[in-house]
Amino acid sequence: MTIQKNVFPILQILLIIITKTTTAQTTETQLNYLAVQCTYSEPISTNTTYHANLLTAFSNLLSHSTINHFFFTSSGLGPDLVNAFYLCRPDFSLATCHACVNATIETFKNFCIGRKETIVWYQECMIRYTNNSISPSGNQTEPWSFVYSTLNVSESNFPMLVNTTMRELISEAVSVEHTPRFFAYGKANFTAFVGLYGMVFCRPDFAPEDCEICLTLALGMMSSCCGNGLSFRTAILLPNCQLRYDTAPFIFPSP
Ligand SMILES: *[C@@H]1O[C@H](CO)[C@@H](O)[C@H](O)[C@H]1NC(C)=O
Ligand SMILES: *[C@@H]1O[C@H](CO)[C@@H](O)[C@H](O)[C@H]1NC(C)=O
Ligand SMILES: *[C@@H]1O[C@H](CO)[C@@H](O)[C@H](O)[C@H]1NC(C)=O
Ligand SMILES: *[C@@H]1O[C@H](CO)[C@@H](O)[C@H](O)[C@H]1NC(C)=O
Ligand SMILES: *[C@@H]1O[C@H](CO)[C@@H](O)[C@H](O)[C@H]1NC(C)=O
Ligand SMILES: *[C@@H]1O[C@H](CO)[C@@H](O)[C@H](O)[C@H]1NC(C)=O
Ligand SMILES: *[C@@H]1O[C@H](CO)[C@@H](O)[C@H](O)[C@H]1NC(C)=O
Repeated sequence: MTIQKNVFPILQILLIIITKTTTAQTTETQLNYLAVQCTYSEPISTNTTYHANLLTAFSNLLSHSTINHFFFTSSGLGPDLVNAFYLCRPDFSLATCHACVNATIETFKNFCIGRKETIVWYQECMIRYTNNSISPSGNQTEPWSFVYSTLNVSESNFPMLVNTTMRELISEAVSVEHTPRFFAYGKANFTAFVGLYGMVFCRPDFAPEDCEICLTLALGMMSSCCGNGLSFRTAILLPNCQLRYDTAPFIFPSP
């Protein structure tokens, strides 16, 4: 069983609604919804300048998603400023990236438009918008979310293998010559029958040190939410980087 848990409990009802709806919405394009964080509970009405700026930002993101896996945009001034970016998983095609950005914007329009700051994570992409500055700093971990299995692997050496494997992937991802930039995945043998599949990636405008800081923090955060490597599968979803492992394969390289 996979559970999706919201860091802000007040929004759990919203999360359930979104989970149900996006499952129905996304079967056509086969996108995989992971989690949402809507921060600041006061609603923004749709006749505000902030809302208009948000729609402009969305439109910029959508148009760039056919040509790039990452794009940052700002819209408006002062208290109405919206900063936004999307980050598509580097191993998915641009067609998938575009479909995912499109679906995510639809998700915002239906459920999170009343928030000043929101992140939606799909397996294929994530979008963040906020009225605050988006600093490209590796140590930024809020808002964050996670997906994991409550079932544990019983072998006691599994958490150690997870730790070693994920650290190796982090080193590989941040080596500057790596392509795609700041993306690494791999498989380690756990038993003769069970593999350990791991993946890490960061936003590509990061410096290598920031990517390493971000992913190392993500690895450490497994202890606060997800059984610290005991679980069969865990995804740590941060605003600027992601880390994921599973005992079943989940990598789907671009066609
Ligand atoms: C926006 O809508 C709200 C409620 O519908 C209304 O109270 C407010 O005056 C409107 N603001 C503008 C700038 O039109
Ligand atoms: C974008 O989303 C809309 C509404 O869900 C849908 O009708 C349209 O086909 C989507 N476009 C792409 C390129 O996925
Ligand atoms: C963003 O919005 C929140 C909630 O309205 C507010 O507390 C915060 O000061 C705003 N940030 C900026 C930079 O205006
Ligand atoms: C985060 O990183 C920035 C520079 O990259 C630094 O100025 C700041 O002090 C760091 N914050 C924490 C909490 O480590
Ligand atoms: C898995 O391990 C965690 C951490 O030790 C524990 O809290 C949890 O109850 C375990 N889950 C099951 C289903 O045994
Ligand atoms: C993971 O490995 C690093 C060194 O490679 C070590 O410092 C850290 O304590 C390990 N974490 C766990 C949870 O075993
Ligand atoms: C995992 O096992 C397969 C088959 O036994 C072997 O070919 C492969 O090299 C092993 N991989 C690692 C990382 O040990």
